[in-house]
Amino acid sequence: MSIQASENRGQWGSKFGFIMAAAGSAVGLGNIWRFPYITGQNGGGAFVFVYILCVLLVGLPLLYNETALGRLTGKNTVGAFKDTGANKFWQITAGFLALSVSFFVLTYYGVIAGWTIGYIISEFTDFIKDFETFRSNALYVIPFFALFMVITVYIVQAGVSGGIEKASKILMPVLFILIVLVIFRSITLPGAMEGVKYYLTPDFAKINGNTILAALGQAFFSLSIGWGIMITYGSYLPKSNNIISSGLWVGSMDTLVALLGGLMIFPAVFAFGKDPAGGTTLVFQVLPEIFNSMPTGGNIVGALFFLLLCIAALTSSISMIEVPASYLIDEKKWSRKKASWIIGILAFLIGIPSALSGGASSFFTNISLNFFGTTKTGFLDIMDALFGTLFIVIVCLMTALYVGWVLKPQKVSEEIGLGSPFYHKKLVFGLSPSQMWIFFIKFICPIVILLVLLATVGVIEADV
Ligand code: PFF
Repeated sequence: MSIQASENRGQWGSKFGFIMAAAGSAVGLGNIWRFPYITGQNGGGAFVFVYILCVLLVGLPLLYNETALGRLTGKNTVGAFKDTGANKFWQITAGFLALSVSFFVLTYYGVIAGWTIGYIISEFTDFIKDFETFRSNALYVIPFFALFMVITVYIVQAGVSGGIEKASKILMPVLFILIVLVIFRSITLPGAMEGVKYYLTPDFAKINGNTILAALGQAFFSLSIGWGIMITYGSYLPKSNNIISSGLWVGSMDTLVALLGGLMIFPAVFAFGKDPAGGTTLVFQVLPEIFNSMPTGGNIVGALFFLLLCIAALTSSISMIEVPASYLIDEKKWSRKKASWIIGILAFLIGIPSALSGGASSFFTNISLNFFGTTKTGFLDIMDALFGTLFIVIVCLMTALYVGWVLKPQKVSEEIGLGSPFYHKKLVFGLSPSQMWIFFIKFICPIVILLVLLATVGVIEADV
């Protein structure tokens, strides 16, 4: 399909543009906010090691799978399953569930992204005294959330090539430059080397079942797998594009930014004697203090840091709208403009309870859910546990099972290998990349995910 053939559906203008947009989706709050605090809670270097293994062994095969399924069918996340003959069961458990993951995560992802706008402004005006007071004030969090959503919709409604691709091509390189700047400041702080050591020296005694669970969940969240994103973005990909090399670029950029995210945070955390296992508030509570206590230029470094967090969130949130939008455009024949605005407004309205769950409404702040043995308190945390964790893993499992065992993986495998000269050459242990991918999608991915899922719901013991 050419750009002219469907103005609504669209196509990437260049390979670089696709890589930037897909990497833009993958690189987000997950890398800079979530990865460091989860690493801090799971023992530092050991977690980093397991995380990289999860990306390579499970993440990458699934990333290829989604992208190829999208390009093979040229459809949205539900249409891709329908078009390949999936019955209602697979359409719902893999397609619709992925679509709901993207939509419902957006409802609280936008809230967190809204906080970053508040922090950018506060670096110059100092209106945020502490994180909890800021988060509990509806008059701050709601307008910032709304502003972030308007910017997101504005980019998406401008289209695939003109909006998403154009924005990502500018924003992603800017992000890299800002990251390097903040790392430089962080590692030159006195005492920073302790943090570098903590972060990069694996202590294998710290690896247990829970570390693996956390790492796999983080890999799916970070690589944007299980959300229907890569299917949707793959559907805009011309046949001439080499999926293998694009996927490698996206996977390595995402992992690189996560690793750099840790390198920004941990040296500073140690230099200022903070607790690396501080949890979800690590970035929002600890870093502003660190910026404040810098002798000079702290507010500039701080504003830059939150600006980059906001940019990373923006290139991710545009992809979250794109998943349901492409479904409505393809299947319900809505215009791109109408689809993006309606989804954006709905996501904002449904996100209000999450925005109020930081203290502004005691009902939404105290509501709790028993989540397989651990209690999640607050609307935002409940949404994250359900949509941002559990359902993603289920979608990944169902997609791997569908492609591996129902659709038969050869078709998707051929799509992955299009244009790649060595895809069918025997490279390692007498196996070709094509054979290896099929083995991974049929066996390794579903088995690992199933074990993780069973461990999460408590059917099997998580400790190994
Ligand atoms: N990968 C993003 C992150 O790490 O923040 C989260 C995400 C964004 C996942 C967009 C999926 C998605 F469609």
